[in-house]
Amino acid sequence: MENFLLPLLISFLSFAWYTNQQQHACEIETAFQFCNKSLAYENRVKDLISRLTIEEKVQQLINDAPGVPRLGLPPYEWWSEALHGVARTGPGVHFNATVPGATSFPAVILSAASFNRSLWLKMGRVVSTEARAMHNVGLAGLTFWSPNVNVFRDPRWGRGQETAGEDPFVVAEYAVNYVRGLQEVGQDGNFSTVGLKVAACCKHYTAYDVDHWKGVDRFHFDAKVTLQDMEDTYQLPFKSCVEEGHVNSIMCSYNRVNGVPTCADPNLLKGVIRGQWGLDGYIVSDCDSIEVYYDDIHYGSSPEEAAALALNAGLNMNCGHHLGKYTEGAIKLNMVKEFVVDQALFFNFMVLMRLGFFDGEPTSLPFGKLGPADVCTNEHQFLALEAAKQGIVLLENNGQLPLSPTTTKHIAVLGPNANATDVMISIYAGIPCKYTSPLQGLEKFVSKVSYEPGCNDVACSNNNQFKAAIEAAAAADAVIVVVGLNQSFEAEMVDRLDLTLPGYQELLVIEVAKAAKGPLVLVVMSGGPVDLSFANNTKVGGILWVGYPGQAGGDAIAQVIFGKFNPGGRSPFSWYPQSYVDQVPMTDMNLREDSTRNYPGRTYRFYLGKLMYDFGHGLSYSVFSKFIMSAPSTVLVRPRDNTTMIVSFNSIDISVLECHSSYLDVVIGLRNDGPKDGTHVVLVFWEPANAQGMLTGIPKKQLVAFERIQVNTGETKKITVKLDICKQLSIVDWMGIRRLILGQHRLLVGSSREQQTMHQFTIGSDAKLSASSSSLGRKCLISYMCHLKINTIIIYVVLFFF
Ligand SMILES: *[C@@H]1O[C@H](CO)[C@@H](O)[C@H](O)[C@H]1NC(C)=O
Ligand SMILES: *[C@@H]1O[C@H](CO)[C@@H](O)[C@H](O)[C@H]1NC(C)=O
Ligand SMILES: *[C@@H]1O[C@H](CO)[C@@H](O)[C@H](O)[C@H]1NC(C)=O
Ligand SMILES: *[C@@H]1O[C@H](CO)[C@@H](O)[C@H](O)[C@H]1NC(C)=O
Ligand SMILES: *[C@@H]1O[C@H](CO)[C@@H](O)[C@H](O)[C@H]1NC(C)=O
Ligand SMILES: *[C@@H]1O[C@H](CO)[C@@H](O)[C@H](O)[C@H]1NC(C)=O
Ligand SMILES: *[C@@H]1O[C@H](CO)[C@@H](O)[C@H](O)[C@H]1NC(C)=O
Ligand SMILES: *[C@@H]1O[C@H](CO)[C@@H](O)[C@H](O)[C@H]1NC(C)=O
Repeated sequence: MENFLLPLLISFLSFAWYTNQQQHACEIETAFQFCNKSLAYENRVKDLISRLTIEEKVQQLINDAPGVPRLGLPPYEWWSEALHGVARTGPGVHFNATVPGATSFPAVILSAASFNRSLWLKMGRVVSTEARAMHNVGLAGLTFWSPNVNVFRDPRWGRGQETAGEDPFVVAEYAVNYVRGLQEVGQDGNFSTVGLKVAACCKHYTAYDVDHWKGVDRFHFDAKVTLQDMEDTYQLPFKSCVEEGHVNSIMCSYNRVNGVPTCADPNLLKGVIRGQWGLDGYIVSDCDSIEVYYDDIHYGSSPEEAAALALNAGLNMNCGHHLGKYTEGAIKLNMVKEFVVDQALFFNFMVLMRLGFFDGEPTSLPFGKLGPADVCTNEHQFLALEAAKQGIVLLENNGQLPLSPTTTKHIAVLGPNANATDVMISIYAGIPCKYTSPLQGLEKFVSKVSYEPGCNDVACSNNNQFKAAIEAAAAADAVIVVVGLNQSFEAEMVDRLDLTLPGYQELLVIEVAKAAKGPLVLVVMSGGPVDLSFANNTKVGGILWVGYPGQAGGDAIAQVIFGKFNPGGRSPFSWYPQSYVDQVPMTDMNLREDSTRNYPGRTYRFYLGKLMYDFGHGLSYSVFSKFIMSAPSTVLVRPRDNTTMIVSFNSIDISVLECHSSYLDVVIGLRNDGPKDGTHVVLVFWEPANAQGMLTGIPKKQLVAFERIQVNTGETKKITVKLDICKQLSIVDWMGIRRLILGQHRLLVGSSREQQTMHQFTIGSDAKLSASSSSLGRKCLISYMCHLKINTIIIYVVLFFF
């Protein structure tokens, strides 16, 4: 009787919880071991997997995982997004009258321009607080597929606005801090004591940055990437995400890399992410990635084989339905073993375990008390304003900025983005708490404002409305023109063809500048560079780049223009001229310049042509000077043991070096020479020593440190920078191996249009180096590979004198 009634009771209760929109497993104390909080996560997860049938297992491999009522396991939607605020891009997030909006931070490209790590961390914390709060009332999941950590390699990429720019080091630092903010809580950042706040996901792995350009789309694109670019550019942010950010997930992309779809590449998934970096979370496919490679490029000879290829490569979770439909068949056909599925489920459920999903009632959890009152708080909204202000870049100022709020009585606010709202919140966004458009922000400073958009919309396909704009400009004390792009011109699946402003926008600026009697301020709202050479007109008194500045964008712009905030943002990308698009196909993944085929290279690290504005450019209303206070002139490296240290082409493979103790400590002085208090971003670039022989593709310079500092007028601050010799001052050779160049290197503090200070130092070794015989040297010149084959104890130096 007992035996008969108990299962009946359990299924009745399970059914009741299930239909009562239960959100978590184990909400009512159950006898299942996976619900027992005193057991280790690993054991609980294994217990759960052991209770599932094969039919049930395969359904837990997809984003909209159904529940298993007999185990009290509710359905779970894995796909939520929070790129720069809780977003409604994925099906896991809903807004309704209970939570009508969430704090909407600027597009990442603008927050990145702040170069402020503590801001990035704080933003992550605010977003995860709001995400948890929404989760607790059934409006969001716990697994967020953010941030986007791809490198903004080409200025045309429609998703550049989602990224932290073109420099892999900045992207990595952004990612680590934002991920820590999302996932962790408390000052010590130890989530193993309090559980995971939400699970972040670094995407899109890897070498993904072509969406849709001249007939090439991301679904068909095969990115041809060299080992050198892979190691020091494309992989770097992902590596940092896992190793330093402890991210709980990586998403593989749609594209192929060197012929293999990333979601089916065992070297990339099992080999690099899991093996080399040690991810202990789950690997998820981009949405329908498996279906895409099966349908579009016929990777896999049957849908079952396509499923098996992904699972065997190390994929754990499928956004889409392919694995739900075909995994069972693949097991029956012996294309994939059941234990591979169990392994995938292990990683998926481990993350849910850490999130408290199996710990019953959320109110008993550390984050269980967060609710709607914790969303859109004044403090959170203040941070959104702060992020926009800190990011805004002052590109030009001929002395007319800031405008005086006392003497400026009447302004004309012109241009198609002058009253932008939706455009400011960019893509992968939610519903903002509220908006302040540029017009609304500026109205707070001046009593008389004439607003004339000049064009119908951003496309600006005619000049019918110019007359009104020109008249407004002529009548005002100052003119502010807000031009730029919007998400019809750059977005997911929308790459740009040109770098110029759309339609008649340039002409609008030129015409109103002619008519203006007072200063003219050009405000550029865009996710990437725009060719602004047309604006090189003395009538344009100042130029601001404002990215897509989020819900408080208008206040931020107005506070900068009227001097209530002294701008300190720096451009996180290079400003190429329009001619760049004719020189470089978007599909060419090479970062390195190549004179043999007239290829100018990409980003400040390699591009040889002339730029409008450099990476790192950004002015202030004050003047800062920098000087080296102390720095060693020599750094010595030694081998890890006394046995091998091979020097070839004046460089050493760092894997043989004793790296733990090799640091370069640099103390930099920073003085604000006036006239305003402000913040300054100290940028430290490294110019590697000359390389010899086959060591090619060395960057011209590379950012190795940055720090944003507040300095008041007349004040001097000290900044200490600790550079890790092996990690930060090594170059990558053509085989993807990191090497240290022996010789004289330089550090350059400051970007090209500001006061710079320089420091030279030598990297050498006091270990005994014996030169190899010249015949060995000659052989090595012919075959660079040769030194790798020599497993001897000899230390030799190959010296070339041409
Ligand atoms: C939970 O696990 C602990 C440790 O094994 C055990 O002592 C306890 O009885 C278990 N609780 C339940 C309800 O099974
Ligand atoms: C909003 O959605 C949640 C989750 O479905 C629900 O509990 C809540 O009642 C909804 N709020 C309103 C006002 O409809
Ligand atoms: C985090 O807390 C756990 C449990 O108290 C402890 O075992 C672990 O060492 C801590 N980790 C760090 C990095 O402090
Ligand atoms: C500016 O945009 C807001 C929000 O869309 C709108 O309510 C307002 O009327 C616009 N202002 C003008 C002057 O068009
Ligand atoms: C962007 O501009 C295009 C063309 O001007 C317009 O059709 C579209 O509605 C705009 N998008 C937004 C979000 O305002
Ligand atoms: C503007 O013109 C000046 C003088 O011709 C030139 O030096 C400067 O580089 C130009 N700036 C831009 C952004 O084109
Ligand atoms: C390396 O050489 C130093 C100095 O001769 C010696 O003290 C040390 O023990 C040696 N280390 C190893 C690993 O042989
Ligand atoms: C960096 O951002 C944080 C958070 O907004 C802020 O408190 C701090 O003042 C910023 N640092 C600088 C130097 O601007």
